[in-house]
Amino acid sequence: MKARAALLWEQPGKWQVMDVDLDEPGPDEVLVEMVATGLCHSDDHMAVGDVPLPHLPYCGGHEGSGIVRQVGPGVRTLKAGDHIVTSFVPSCGACRWCAGGLQNLCDNGARILTGAQLDGTFRMRADGKDVATMSMLGTFADRQVFDEQSCIKVREDVALDVACLVACGVPTGWGSAVHAGEVGVGDTVIVIGVGGVGINAVQGARYAGARHVIAVDPVAFKREKALELGATEAFESIAEAADFGRGVTNGQGADTAIVTVGVIEGQNIADGFNAVRKAGTVVVTSMGSPLTTGVPVNLFEISMFQKRIQGALYGMGSPRESVPRLLDLYADGLLKLDELVTRRYRLDEVNEAYADMHAGRNIRGVIDFRH
Ligand SMILES: NC(=O)c1ccc[n+]([C@@H]2O[C@H](COP(=O)([O-])OP(=O)(O)OC[C@H]3O[C@@H](n4cnc5c(N)ncnc54)[C@H](O)[C@@H]3O)[C@@H](O)[C@H]2O)c1
Ligand SMILES: [Zn+2]
Ligand SMILES: [Zn+2]
Repeated sequence: MKARAALLWEQPGKWQVMDVDLDEPGPDEVLVEMVATGLCHSDDHMAVGDVPLPHLPYCGGHEGSGIVRQVGPGVRTLKAGDHIVTSFVPSCGACRWCAGGLQNLCDNGARILTGAQLDGTFRMRADGKDVATMSMLGTFADRQVFDEQSCIKVREDVALDVACLVACGVPTGWGSAVHAGEVGVGDTVIVIGVGGVGINAVQGARYAGARHVIAVDPVAFKREKALELGATEAFESIAEAADFGRGVTNGQGADTAIVTVGVIEGQNIADGFNAVRKAGTVVVTSMGSPLTTGVPVNLFEISMFQKRIQGALYGMGSPRESVPRLLDLYADGLLKLDELVTRRYRLDEVNEAYADMHAGRNIRGVIDFRH
């Protein structure tokens, strides 16, 4: 069958929207009519070249929502007509990590960087060439075939063009505060970078009972949005935020700092490290290049002040648990999602949408396939 998709043909490169061929769903796979997909910075890392790609051409997108239209042989958990949100890490349900309640670390996650499906082959072709997909998904396509393990069935009374946000940015940011940062009642939290992920760390920290949620972003519009969505203070620089944090904690420093800048450098982690109190936590959510190492933190302080640097993938929780719970919170008016979507785009506007992200104009841009 045919589909329309946004592909990278070179790295660095721009997204090219074109007609592609799509296979029928194979065993344990589903065909999904995509309804919407959020424009996460992680896809942009692939376009810009922050993360080397395994295979070209490459279909981006991992923050998707849609409707199952066809199921392949052996599919047990989904049927045609089900509403789904994508999971950018598949969950097998049987490995040590899935069994232990950390489906975000499922062993099948090792496959997502290959660009292929679980059996090592591809479902999409463009100009006769196999197309790799982001995170075994590739939601920058109006229809797509991927594994049942990459789908989370969701309630049908939440509009799919909003539900897409809980595929990545919302659970990632929320969990960075609630799970990885273990934010508690009365805490002081600094969120460094309030884009589509960081804004949800702000929401999570506030909901977990933080006394101060201090947002840091060089862009004035992001700071305004952060204050609207739960931040108690907002600053242009980490230096001002760290000073403020010390001021409200008797000189000790923030309990938690969460790093959600778009393109991370070791210094961002060190800035968070220097802003937290003894036994404080720095959560590292931003993605860095696999070719870069080094965090310039004080080697005395890390042990003597018992500080913790905690990486967080997918909000350090199980997407199958967090995604439905977050949608329940939204449906009850306790989590804001509509306010996170700054602008909706057509698929063929994807490059303009990422230009807007780089210019600081969007909290989250969303491609709406019905637009
Ligand atoms: N760990 C995970 O599971 C996971 C999941 C999704 C995204 N990510 C990563 O999280 C990061 C954030 O993604 P996003 O979609 O929110 O990006 P985004 O571009 O929407 O937001 C980044 C924000 O950081 C701000 N910023 C940039 N430099 C800064 C600095 N020095 N100090 C303070 N703020 C600064 C920008 O103005 C922007 O508002 C990316 O690196 C992305 O790849 C990680
Ligand atoms: Zn993402
Ligand atoms: Zn697993």
